[in-house]
Amino acid sequence: MSNASANLNIMVKAARITGRKLLRDFNEVENLQVSTKGPGDFVSKADTMAEETIREQLTEARPNYGFLGEESDETFGEDPTRRWIVDPLDGTTNFLHGMPHWAVSIALEHRDQIVAAVIYDPLKDELFTAEKGEGAWVNGKRLRVSGRSELIETVFATGVPFGGRSDLPETLQDLARIMPVCAGVRRWGAASLDLAYVAAGRYDGYWERRLHPWDIAAGILLVKEAGGIVESIDSDDSPIVTGDILVANEPLFNRFAKLVRDTH
Ligand code: IPD
Ligand code: CA
Ligand code: CA
Repeated sequence: MSNASANLNIMVKAARITGRKLLRDFNEVENLQVSTKGPGDFVSKADTMAEETIREQLTEARPNYGFLGEESDETFGEDPTRRWIVDPLDGTTNFLHGMPHWAVSIALEHRDQIVAAVIYDPLKDELFTAEKGEGAWVNGKRLRVSGRSELIETVFATGVPFGGRSDLPETLQDLARIMPVCAGVRRWGAASLDLAYVAAGRYDGYWERRLHPWDIAAGILLVKEAGGIVESIDSDDSPIVTGDILVANEPLFNRFAKLVRDTH
């Protein structure tokens, strides 16, 4: 992070400004929680406002890059080789329920490769950053994936489909195979932070299906730059394309991947 590129500095600035705004909104959610209407509308406005703030910051600094964000239609820049991939608020359900686990996620893609990444958790003031070939960092401290190699000592993260999604049985079967052989599986509800925590060696691995590019773009680079392995679950294509992702440290990867992929 000490030799951060101009692009990374732009991303960090956008994430911090947006994080400050979201923090103010999060405090307001706690007040709205007790009202009969609840904070739902307010939070979807916070989501949209956050994306507008990020888009403004990034587009002002780099007017010719494309922009793919969760809350608006994709725009294509004059430079077709570069685009921002942004989740302005990852972990919306946590945010809505006043739970302190959500983040701003910004990635820069160049010729189909993620080259810079920022995931910012404003409540914990943890700024995760990575640049291709330059390593991954949290608040200026170098990140490494965990060194654990005994499956029974490992903690994995995942996401469990909600709201009537038809893929719930698949994930329940994953859990039935994986939970008995490890020390625990967490479902904390923010894919970007799941990946950042693997990069930080907190989780030993993570898998999830049917995600969007903005959920995982920044986290993928963080994990790779921290020495982890990143693959799609059932294909050789990038998880950005498939939406299915499997990550772990090197000593565990093959055994963990077999467990996740062994769906028969
Ligand atoms: C969600 C979170 C969650 C994952 C969901 C995502 P959102 O993103 O990353 O962990 O399980 O699939 O949609 O909606 O909070 O930005
Ligand atoms: Ca998301
Ligand atoms: Ca989101």
